[in-house]
Amino acid sequence: MTRIAYVNGDFLPLDEARISVLDRGFLFADGIYEVSAVLESKLVDNESHLLRLERSVGEIALAMPETRERIEEIQKELIARNGLVEGVVYIQVTRGAADRDFAFPKGVKPSLVMFTQEKNIVASPLAQRGIAVKTLPDIRWARRDIKSVALLAQVLAKQAAAEAGCQEAWMIEDGKITEGGSSTVFIVTKDDVIVTRPNSNAILPGCTRKALLALAEERQIRIEERAFSVDEALTAKEAFITSASAFLQPVVTIDGAQVADGKPGPLATRLREIYIDFARATAR
Ligand code: PDD
Repeated sequence: MTRIAYVNGDFLPLDEARISVLDRGFLFADGIYEVSAVLESKLVDNESHLLRLERSVGEIALAMPETRERIEEIQKELIARNGLVEGVVYIQVTRGAADRDFAFPKGVKPSLVMFTQEKNIVASPLAQRGIAVKTLPDIRWARRDIKSVALLAQVLAKQAAAEAGCQEAWMIEDGKITEGGSSTVFIVTKDDVIVTRPNSNAILPGCTRKALLALAEERQIRIEERAFSVDEALTAKEAFITSASAFLQPVVTIDGAQVADGKPGPLATRLREIYIDFARATAR
């Protein structure tokens, strides 16, 4: 089956889908992206992702290229045309194509590109085994709350992690963990309190983070929003990450050192089940 992508109004086979070499996403990383999970051919927590897309494009003074309703229609058409059962839909909005000049071009239409990618999210062996993470300095820009396509720092961090046999990079700033290369970081204290960094310009406000914290709160699980160090994570009872494309994955080693007994923790395992149930029940 040929994969179908969406490019500025057209549904095209992936190898015919084209963007101009002058596209500002390509030249300046002048664009925004979003990733929504697909489970049983339905979108998970999609409204949250589209609202964050709207906020991010606004933060770089771009208008939404289509309404949220229209974008969701295109997402659904891509899922149908690609026969996607489980995976993700990727959305990218850039400032469009124009002669190379740093300041915004006038009268240029933003580009909208979307495609699907298959992925086993629920039956992931990594979620069963737990993942290894490597810590690295956070060398990103100061507006990490914007879901910018400028991901070079994360590409380099995740490559270094992969070379060390790890599945995620944890980025460190001023002695505290900011977030994962493409995930939000959590620990569980000895008193069973979930700790995660508060939202600010230092991290992306995770959609999975938001939904999971609400689900935990409903179950009277205690939550503390504060920054924490690698040392605290190393002595924690459990650690885990969340993202749209992985839901929740337990973290079992940090720079080669085990977290607790080096196995996925009970609370992380329970929260993953809770999130999967939520995703199945609310996907549309
Ligand atoms: N990344 N922090 C960063 C830096 C991220 O890139 C992501 C998601 C998250 C988690 O956000 P959410 O729960 O809304 O997916 C946190 C996506 C999945 C990606 O780049 O593929």
